[in-house]
Amino acid sequence: MPRCKQPILGTLILGGAGLLFGGPMSSPCPAQSDSTSKSNQVTLGDAELTAGIPGFGLLTDAQLNRWLDDPANHETLQIKLPKGLDAASANISIPDDNPMTRAKIELGRQLYFDERLSSDNTISCASCHDPAQGWGAEMRFGVGVRGQEGGRNSPVAYNRILSKAQFWDGRADSLEDQAVGPIANSIEMGNTHEASVATIAKIPGYKLQFEKIFHDGVHIDNVGKALATFERAIVTGLMPYDAYDQLAKFEKTFAEDLEYLDEEPELKAKYDVLKAEAAAMPMSESAQRGMTLFSGKANCTACHAGANFTDEQYHNLGVGMDVAEPDLGRFEISREEKDKGAFKTPTLRNIVFTAPYMHDGSQATLEEVVEWYNKGGHKNEYLSDKMKVLNLTDDEKADLIAFMIEGLTGEFPYVSQARLPQ
Ligand code: HEC
Ligand code: HEC
Repeated sequence: MPRCKQPILGTLILGGAGLLFGGPMSSPCPAQSDSTSKSNQVTLGDAELTAGIPGFGLLTDAQLNRWLDDPANHETLQIKLPKGLDAASANISIPDDNPMTRAKIELGRQLYFDERLSSDNTISCASCHDPAQGWGAEMRFGVGVRGQEGGRNSPVAYNRILSKAQFWDGRADSLEDQAVGPIANSIEMGNTHEASVATIAKIPGYKLQFEKIFHDGVHIDNVGKALATFERAIVTGLMPYDAYDQLAKFEKTFAEDLEYLDEEPELKAKYDVLKAEAAAMPMSESAQRGMTLFSGKANCTACHAGANFTDEQYHNLGVGMDVAEPDLGRFEISREEKDKGAFKTPTLRNIVFTAPYMHDGSQATLEEVVEWYNKGGHKNEYLSDKMKVLNLTDDEKADLIAFMIEGLTGEFPYVSQARLPQ
């Protein structure tokens, strides 16, 4: 089956927060193939894993039985990350007791989009982590059942396979742990685990799947396992940064050989391939300068490090610290003084789609974010010592933003939001 990807959302309006239109539902993507010729070697991000069970409308029990009877759907998948992100493969985190299978990804997909998990059938995970809003939400705070607002901005639900600790303060030790939290959170889905499990058990299509996939059937832990498995399949694809980074690394390693490449045909061939790959995903001169600034003068890589642009650590940038009783973030979990006002470094891949920014959604645009760093954040007792006044010129600020927009934008996997059990 041809690789089929979610179209990149909308057009980018430089300098603005609003940029989303178009949508996943409009994409003419083929659904899961139900042939038995499936391989258990897969690359995450491939539509075949997340496009749903073939067919239209609500899932019938007959379709589900056919799907569940295919042994290939229960085989443990040997997963690879898409090119670019694969440089972070060492950070892949999958618990031993929850191996990825096609059937589990698919069950997690259905649960993720199913509003029946909430107390009043109005809220799903996608309400706050919406594929059409960059897997986050455009509003400042997550809005749950009966219009209630929480106090933090919805983080993105992709590239989660690369993190162990979840939430802005890292209070969940795994995606499995994290996933069942919102169901019983009174502000989010407003339900109880008992009630949601009872609802799921009454839907024959879910019951069939849980019983076939887990030895103990419908159980809240298994809801968490399925949701976590689906989330692990949501990863970002190749972006211009990846190609330019490869090229830059090559040019650095072979700096002395570049002049004499004619004498080294193998090296030259490799160089030509890297140059062609970068040329196929061009970045403007401004964005290229921004890429140099990002790891140089602007010091962003001090925290946004590695292929997923995060050190998985907690830092105080001073965000939200100017009020009488600030959100103390990581401190509430670790009780360590140094963690006061510290939050987990988020990924910057596809960052352009997920305004507003920061744990409290207090910064509306990337311009505001760059200004924040330029002035060295907001001074407070616990400010990270990695935060420094940067003295960037206006051109340099523009370059950094151009890099984040052009360099760090790539495709999301195609995900069906329909095909839930009857
Ligand atoms: C009402 C909005 C809302 C709903 C519904 C919701 N979330 Fe969240 N989600 C949030 C917010 C806000 C946070 C950050 C909370 C925090 O860090 O304290 C979050 C955090 C997360 C994280 C952690 C991401 C990270 O970078 O650490 C994941 C994963 C996640 N949610 C998945 C889910 C799943 C799965 C569901 C459905 C079962 C769900 N969410 C339902 C708003 C929501
Ligand atoms: C000291 C570590 C550190 C440095 C240095 C740093 N960041 Fe961050 N970044 C973070 C943390 C932690 C957050 C979340 C903070 C919060 O919400 O309180 C964040 C948030 C962001 C966000 C918002 C992400 C979102 O999903 O809301 C952007 C954009 C960003 N940083 C870009 C940059 C750029 C550009 C630079 C360089 C100029 C930079 N960062 C330097 C740690 C850092």
